[in-house]
Amino acid sequence: MKQKNLKLCLLALGALAWGTAQASTLPDLAKASGCFSCHSIQEKVVGPSFASVAEKYAGQPDAAADLARSVQNGSSRKWGRAAMPAHPNMDPAEIQKLAEWVLTLKP
Ligand code: HEC
Repeated sequence: MKQKNLKLCLLALGALAWGTAQASTLPDLAKASGCFSCHSIQEKVVGPSFASVAEKYAGQPDAAADLARSVQNGSSRKWGRAAMPAHPNMDPAEIQKLAEWVLTLKP
């Protein structure tokens, strides 16, 4: 009986955490994923501003997939000397969402 209660409790906690993750916005996801330690929306930090990424790839139909690949596998020499490390432990679906979001940003 005790065991069962514990399981129920864990289930409830899991549902709560999942619900919170679903509710969070894309900027929250970017923050939680550590993107803002190297990027900001309008300013170049270690990496290019997300607005300039959106500007560079504007009108390119495969841009989101390309950007998602850059985040997943890492990227270098497209923007300057600094390289972006790979993010092998991130959910590819989340990376894709972030890539699509970046492309919507305007300078
Ligand atoms: C350790 C620093 C660092 C972190 C963390 C980081 N980036 Fe980057 N990012 C860079 C650098 C540096 C570049 C430029 C790479 C280049 O020149 O190819 C870059 C480039 C990019 C690009 C453009 C890629 C291209 O193909 O032109 C996108 C989009 C991007 N980052 C998104 C993200 C997202 C989303 C996250 C969070 C999951 C993230 N970055 C985390 C440093 C970082």
